[in-house]
Amino acid sequence: MNETTQIEAAAQRLRDGGLVAFPTETVYGLGADAGNESAVAAIYAVKGRPANHPLIVHIADHNAALYWIGHNDLSAARRRFDRLAARFWPGPLTLIMRRSEQAPGWACGGQASIGLRCPAHPIAQGLLQAFSRYGRGIAAPSANRYGRISPTTAQHVRDEFSGDAPILLLDGGAARHGLESTIIDLSREQAVLLRPGAISADEVAAGLGESVAISSNVIDPDQIDRQAPRASGTLASHYAPRNPMYIVSSIDLHEKVRVHEQAGKRVLVLPCADSLVGYAHHLYARLRELDEQAGAITGAIILVEAPPREPQWQAVWDRLLRAQTKS
Ligand code: TXA
Ligand code: MG
Repeated sequence: MNETTQIEAAAQRLRDGGLVAFPTETVYGLGADAGNESAVAAIYAVKGRPANHPLIVHIADHNAALYWIGHNDLSAARRRFDRLAARFWPGPLTLIMRRSEQAPGWACGGQASIGLRCPAHPIAQGLLQAFSRYGRGIAAPSANRYGRISPTTAQHVRDEFSGDAPILLLDGGAARHGLESTIIDLSREQAVLLRPGAISADEVAAGLGESVAISSNVIDPDQIDRQAPRASGTLASHYAPRNPMYIVSSIDLHEKVRVHEQAGKRVLVLPCADSLVGYAHHLYARLRELDEQAGAITGAIILVEAPPREPQWQAVWDRLLRAQTKS
């Protein structure tokens, strides 16, 4: 099958209530028709995700978002939404808005708000456009089991769900960014960064022409943001390898390796890199490889060399801190 035929087959699978895993420019998503309650329930079942954790609804374009947020909303939130969508979509940005009256609660874990994203990846775009003949959007979390590392290749998706409910998988190669989208909450008085990603809070602020607050949960993953709904990506422990993993500063690395080895551990090291773009692109694949290697050795631990404490590395730090083993 050529790509267009595959995409059409995938759109029909969604129409018929099935699940489709597809590439985006951030990570792979596990999609279902957002308008089909049992199809969305199947995503939660396959992932093992708690029912109140909201999913992101993916749409083909700005216009397709309006069904979910309401057409005639002239609020400040709507003005911000229109600005950011015009500036950054399609792209790695998820916008949280109050849900419209007609938008079903199951599409967003029963929240009063809804997360919307218009991805830029050509296969995701092709799928969303093909599916727009049948439905209003594709609900899709990252295509991994609950709490685990997000998939950045088609093989990662196969590794996550082998033997489970039939999932049609579209292979689009390795995801370009490698970290999940930036999430901005527009349902509050002020725009709030809920999850850092490839688009920085400063870029969003520049796009809005006003400042963006940073969720307490982003500043410190152990802090709970009481205004944010329970959401997987904001839990202190998430994106986690199965084996023990700790972040260690470059200065301490040698000493820590020595101490752990003396205690009889086998130490696997993830070194830092100079290029943020390359590091983020490869991070989840590297963590998966190391986790697999560690799983085959008794007493193995993973040490991650700490990246620079610089603003551009915020999304990387956010994921590493959540992936780190909590003691
Ligand atoms: O890059 C991405 O965003 C990927 C690709 C597949 O698009 N998707 C993704 O989905 O990372 P997921 O479900 O793994 O993470 C979605 C996160 C939730 O954990 C939650 O933090 C937030 O989006 N979210 C979704 N709906 C929300 C809502 N109504 N209010 C607050 N947060 C919400
Ligand atoms: Mg996820």
